Amino acid sequence: MSKPILINKTLKNFNKKINVEGDKSLSIRFALLASQAIGKSRAFNLLKSEDVLSTLNCLKKLGVKIEWNKKHKFCEIHGNGLNSFVYKDNLILNGNNSGTCVRLLTSLLINSPKKIKIIGDNSLSKRDMKRIIDPLKEFGATFYPRNKNTLPIYIKGSTYLTPINYLEIKGSSQCKSSVMLAALLTPGETYIKCKPSRNHTELLFKYLKIPIKIKKIKNFDIIKIKGKQNFKSFNYNIPSDISSSAFFIVLTLLSKGSKLILKKVGVNKSRTGVINILNKMGAKIVLKNKKNYKGEKIADIHVKSSKSLKSINCPNKFNSSAIDEFLIIFLAAAKAKGISYFRNLEELNKKESKRLNWGSKILNMIGVKNKLTINHGIKIWGQPNLKLNKNYEIKNYLKDHRVMAMSTIAALTLGGKWKIHNPESIKTSFPSFFKIIQKDLGGKINR
Ligand code: S3P
Repeated sequence: MSKPILINKTLKNFNKKINVEGDKSLSIRFALLASQAIGKSRAFNLLKSEDVLSTLNCLKKLGVKIEWNKKHKFCEIHGNGLNSFVYKDNLILNGNNSGTCVRLLTSLLINSPKKIKIIGDNSLSKRDMKRIIDPLKEFGATFYPRNKNTLPIYIKGSTYLTPINYLEIKGSSQCKSSVMLAALLTPGETYIKCKPSRNHTELLFKYLKIPIKIKKIKNFDIIKIKGKQNFKSFNYNIPSDISSSAFFIVLTLLSKGSKLILKKVGVNKSRTGVINILNKMGAKIVLKNKKNYKGEKIADIHVKSSKSLKSINCPNKFNSSAIDEFLIIFLAAAKAKGISYFRNLEELNKKESKRLNWGSKILNMIGVKNKLTINHGIKIWGQPNLKLNKNYEIKNYLKDHRVMAMSTIAALTLGGKWKIHNPESIKTSFPSFFKIIQKDLGGKINR
């Protein structure tokens, strides 16, 4: 366990351009799809965080050759097509902290002839797996122990897979993508009706010419996938992660006299809820230099300090596209004028930690009135002049990287003396977080 960090100075004004590391969702999807392609696929700017490394390690254990080219800075994955994993008896795959790794990778095991054990860390072992076990069982896989819905679990595949009709109502991309990957291995047509959520898997399927049809009907996406069609290897340049960027966007909004440009960030509409919400709160976040890349949208994000954030009654329609950003949005709401209201955030308490509760706990700690509501929501009484001068300690938060990052941004913008435990937790999604704060933005962090 690494030592806690101590922060007792807010950031001085800055005017900088930064590069945030690669998108985690796209990095994991690249690795999984490259493992199923025929030939060598290369990813540039692949995120080297623990969640992605866990995914690569699992793939290596499944017999996939993976090499890093340090000189040209790419990761190369040698795919042998669908159904090509080769592995020993009694295989154990460890997803560590990564829900995306486990929920998506398990789908690629639905035809495995041998039993495989899937494990994760303390946080991941508390998270619900029924949401993927149920549909994968319908395809034909078996899970042991029978009625267990959390890790560790065992999966045994089937050679008689059948396509399914699947209804997804949480707005979870992990659930949708899990079924999409299982559909790849299954003969016939899988039908998915789902609430909109991040659509990177769909865009990659289209780019790879995997037979997929997508329609919108009312508030649902209808996806049809024809399985068992091999596809060719591909190269991919991963854009910067908007979820990691969000911490620096709010840091800039809440700092005085500062400006920040975040270069080449993935701004896929299914991910930009945070920008829509903050702009509705009076921020002036602007996207420039917009480009299309293999179906994804990329842009430079320009943000300036904001003197007057206002509260928001947050429309539900932003929930899925901002799902990983709510903690940092709550911090912005704590400094906004008026009472903000966010609701229907049931999924937030099912993340790496109970994030809705943690948001409320940290706001209580810093003296910001808030109330959890019965519809899985939170009301936040903002204080535009909020300044802190007490001691604050953040610990026992199941090492949730986003709780850690939100606390760090609070410390750097609101003042007070902060002791934040397990700063290494940030490595799951954003290893260069502290380097950007210290080297690029001149922040003082004591270890
Ligand atoms: C992810 C989807 C989201 C998100 C997670 C990454 C993905 O989870 O919270 O960090 O890459 O598909 P849900 O799909 O469960 O909402």
